[in-house]
Amino acid sequence: MERIDKLLCSTGRWSRKEVKDLVRQGRVLLNGRVVIRPEEKADPASAALTVDGAAVDCAPFVYIMLHKPAGVLSATEDPRQPTVLDLLSPELRRRGLFPVGRLDRDTTGLLLLTDDGPLAHRLLSPKKHVNKVYRAAVDGTVDGDDVRALAAGMVLGDGLRCLPAGLEPLGDGRLCLVTLQEGKYHQVKRMLAARGKPVLSLHRLSMGPLTLDEELKPGKWRFLTPQEGEELRRLG
Ligand code: URA
Repeated sequence: MERIDKLLCSTGRWSRKEVKDLVRQGRVLLNGRVVIRPEEKADPASAALTVDGAAVDCAPFVYIMLHKPAGVLSATEDPRQPTVLDLLSPELRRRGLFPVGRLDRDTTGLLLLTDDGPLAHRLLSPKKHVNKVYRAAVDGTVDGDDVRALAAGMVLGDGLRCLPAGLEPLGDGRLCLVTLQEGKYHQVKRMLAARGKPVLSLHRLSMGPLTLDEELKPGKWRFLTPQEGEELRRLG
């Protein structure tokens, strides 16, 4: 059994003070009954907790979909530059969240943040074959030779061996979709540069079952829906 104030705070949505106020205002219900004291206890596995009528998921981990903007580091801290954690609330920052994989400073798009280490590991392991789809604008136009080269698995100048990757030219080929099942340093940029088509801009659209929510503007985030969380856990 856990204290209700602790359970609500651990979701990262409210501070301890805010939880106290919610309880005092009668906005928190446990199994349909108004919670009177924040220190009341509930079983996180079975408790039906609601705030203002909306169910609160007391699962032990937090999962956040972020639209990473350009100019922000995919790191948890940096002495000089803003990191993706700076885009979250102080409550969430205290939870020890980290980005699942890295996007370059100038890359935009889908980034998952969580405190679920085992899930992050599964998503990033090349053995799990989780597709990460990027949209790239290139200097030049990608063609059938490039598609075949990526599909064969490229070996880059420094000997780096890449797994077979998907390449789909869009329109006249100045834009393309690249699908990777791994995430080596600067991988998309290096593969396309090796084909003589340097990347001008890069944006991640999806990762496994997660697709960037079009409603999320750059720099904005939201919690995963229960269905998205379920789909991620199924990758296990
Ligand atoms: N590949 C890159 O080159 N950069 C990224 O940010 C992600 C994949």
